[in-house]
Amino acid sequence: MLNKITVVGAGNVGATTAQRLAEKELARQVVLVDVIEGVPQGKGLDLWESAPIEGYDTRLIGTNEYGPSEGSDIVVITAGIARKPGMSRDDLLNTNAGIVKQVAEHVKNSSPNAIVIVVSNPLDVMSWVAMKMTGFPRERVLGMAGVLDTGRYRSFLAEALDVSVRDIQAMVLGGHGDTMVPLLSYTSVSGIPVTQLLDQAKLDAIISRTRSGGAEIVKYLKTGSAYYAPSAAVVQMCEAIAFDQKRVLPCAAWLQGEYGQSGVFLGVPCKLGRAGLEKIFEVSLTDDERAALAKSADAVREPMSAVQL
Ligand code: APR
Repeated sequence: MLNKITVVGAGNVGATTAQRLAEKELARQVVLVDVIEGVPQGKGLDLWESAPIEGYDTRLIGTNEYGPSEGSDIVVITAGIARKPGMSRDDLLNTNAGIVKQVAEHVKNSSPNAIVIVVSNPLDVMSWVAMKMTGFPRERVLGMAGVLDTGRYRSFLAEALDVSVRDIQAMVLGGHGDTMVPLLSYTSVSGIPVTQLLDQAKLDAIISRTRSGGAEIVKYLKTGSAYYAPSAAVVQMCEAIAFDQKRVLPCAAWLQGEYGQSGVFLGVPCKLGRAGLEKIFEVSLTDDERAALAKSADAVREPMSAVQL
């Protein structure tokens, strides 16, 4: 169990993340930080009052200050605005860049040894903002997107095949946007290549639904974006770190030549343990997958150049 995890942003993703962290007892303390007066305090208290009923000893508090978050082992950044129908993740760019910049400066001062997991969108660009503003090494700044995108992909495959989600192995790489790259060549059902079980037209439809999985939820909710699956995904990453599990999960990492890409955050297979990003696995890709990953990297670089830090 870790000592302290801070979740910045006590909105839908942040509060659900805090709940899941506590229910799994990943840390002795979970601190919710938000700029709105009363909201983190109220949600923190409500979550703490659930502890005797749920039976967890994680102490939850909410605050508008960074003092109580000092010395956190992990800081999850969910602060920012969420999408409304018709908006792309890139539409959030400048507002969220300003917010993540400010949050990262606080994190650098209050939790200099923390591992930072970024959730705010556009994810890959915000991860870069967080890394630049904290000055933390790439091992301690990760973006949560691939676990979520892969979760969506696996859920659609399980549904189409009418099999357990547990038996679907898959990886979605690339940026967290329309250019994400579901790796068909590494998608299997208990080791059976998925191409033996579903025809190409069905697979294409699932891949396309995965790419617009976030937009599908936004369209239903109308006033915000997804949070149950995003919080589950970020908590899986926290769990891998807290218990030094050495899980291999698709995460946004700062690339330094891997997959022929540099100077960009992109979803790649990462080994996560107590040190954070412990290794990036470079797997062989088909020509089409490699080209799709390069296109995805360019789609992340473009908004990066519009951000002034
Ligand atoms: N510091 C702390 N919290 C902040 C700050 C800040 N500087 N600025 C905004 N917030 C808080 C808001 O007050 C709000 O409570 O961030 C919270 C965001 O919550 P929601 O609006 O409910 O958004 P949510 O659905 O949680 O999404 C948050 O995650 O998935 C991404 O695209 C999504 O960028 C969005 C982020």
